Amino acid sequence: MVDNQHWLDRWKENRIGFHEATVNRHLEKYLAQFALPAAASVFVPLCGKARDMAWLAQQGYQVIGVELSQLAITSFFAENSLDFERSETDRFIIYESPNIRLLQGDFFDLRSEDLGACGLVYDRASLIAMESADRPRYLEHMLSIVPTLGKMLLITLEYEQTEMRGPPFSVPTDEVYQYYTDAFSIKLLERNDIVDESPRWRKVGLTALVESVFRLDG
Ligand SMILES: C[S@@+](CC[C@H](N)C(=O)[O-])C[C@H]1O[C@@H](n2cnc3c(N)ncnc32)[C@H](O)[C@@H]1O
Repeated sequence: MVDNQHWLDRWKENRIGFHEATVNRHLEKYLAQFALPAAASVFVPLCGKARDMAWLAQQGYQVIGVELSQLAITSFFAENSLDFERSETDRFIIYESPNIRLLQGDFFDLRSEDLGACGLVYDRASLIAMESADRPRYLEHMLSIVPTLGKMLLITLEYEQTEMRGPPFSVPTDEVYQYYTDAFSIKLLERNDIVDESPRWRKVGLTALVESVFRLDG
């Protein structure tokens, strides 16, 4: 079972194969087409220590992330040579540098007021970190906290779930449409088989690994 302890253990044991050493190529490619207002805020759910957050802040955006692991958050600030201030609320420990606010705690404790008028949700390796039994709760919670007219860049993976246990979990495209279709217009930006981009996927037994990139407009 993939519970909160699973993730905390992975960070402690440095089993973080999901972490990308460089800025995500889809974020770099598609961000401009969202035409976000200057200084808009970008919400990064289940943010880990993604470099993408430092890059977004460099583009002038205000980043809000939520992450269970203190280790992930302090590593993020250290690796990006950023100082931070730390404070506590009843639900989160907050780490802040001028354009980046990371909330250490559980995504499911977030409320819409924590995100404010967030202009974009950037979901990379977040929805796919949820097992199928937990995904309805994740998707419903996301819908309950993001602003109605929000936008989202969503990156998912699909593969034959019997070939690998996950995480990452296979998220059928149908599920994305099922949950988000009432709130957003959904555009599939691209879809590629990336099984040969890393030797680890064939090694664990995958025969195909399809990455989909969606643009959602509220
Ligand atoms: C697969 S990683 C992806 C991290 C990041 N999005 C990236 O692209 O590198 C999933 C992250 O979500 C965090 N996480 C899992 N469940 C969470 C929850 N309920 N609330 C907050 N963070 C969570 C884990 O600690 C882990 O860092």
